[in-house]
Amino acid sequence: MIVIKTQEEIEKMRKVGKLAAQLLNYIGPFVKEGVSTQYLNDLCEKFTQKNGAISAPLNYHGFPKSICTSINNVVCHGIPSEQDILKDGDIVNVDITVILDGYHGDSSRTFMIGNVDEKIQNLVSRTESAMHRGIAAVKPGKYLYEVGKAIEKYIGKFDYSIVRTYGGHGIGKRFHEDPHVLHHFSRENKIRLQEGMIFTVEPMINMGKSYAVETSATDGWTVTTVDGSISAQFEHTILVTSEGAEILTTV
Ligand code: MF3
Ligand code: CO
Ligand code: CO
Repeated sequence: MIVIKTQEEIEKMRKVGKLAAQLLNYIGPFVKEGVSTQYLNDLCEKFTQKNGAISAPLNYHGFPKSICTSINNVVCHGIPSEQDILKDGDIVNVDITVILDGYHGDSSRTFMIGNVDEKIQNLVSRTESAMHRGIAAVKPGKYLYEVGKAIEKYIGKFDYSIVRTYGGHGIGKRFHEDPHVLHHFSRENKIRLQEGMIFTVEPMINMGKSYAVETSATDGWTVTTVDGSISAQFEHTILVTSEGAEILTTV
């Protein structure tokens, strides 16, 4: 069941969305060579608490940390660790979700560390463009599958693949709610968009030809590409308006 948000709920989602954006803006300058992902985790946790909010990932289905940090071939759900030190040439997705006044704001960006291979730089910038193309396809009365269609149309120009195992999601009082948002074209997303729907658009794009991913048997969370290729991701939480989409996770 897709929740259509009331005006009061939309106001709360705007507030938490803004905080999510502020958190990513805050952490950005710390995402540098030589720092551990645990350090980034701790800074995010403190910032979140100082702003009267809660880190949604912590203890979510047993997730052990406050944010997700996914380096290079890690697609998503990377667990921050003292052992994972960012190095020159790495890319890292920082995915944060905060809860403010009972509502969730979810956003992520992929950061580049020092001198990143030009091919990888292209993957990162094209993944961000793909997210924006998906968002631009949102309009009430259209089908949700237009999002995946727009992303696929753009990403199809490159030798990349679009991850299918994970998608965007409705969001509000709950971290993950209906609908499940696919980033490739599928009739499964033949769902009419309506004003007041709120969901994320968060494509994960692999540099390899295969979209296959696997979850670590050791920690039960870390998702990597099966072929070892690099993967990038960007995420925004958006509201369907009469005009199209309003990005909530922005300042
Ligand atoms: N933030 C992720 C998403 O975009 C979900 C992370 S769930 C966690 O949906 F448990 F790994 F934190
Ligand atoms: Co997220
Ligand atoms: Co999300």
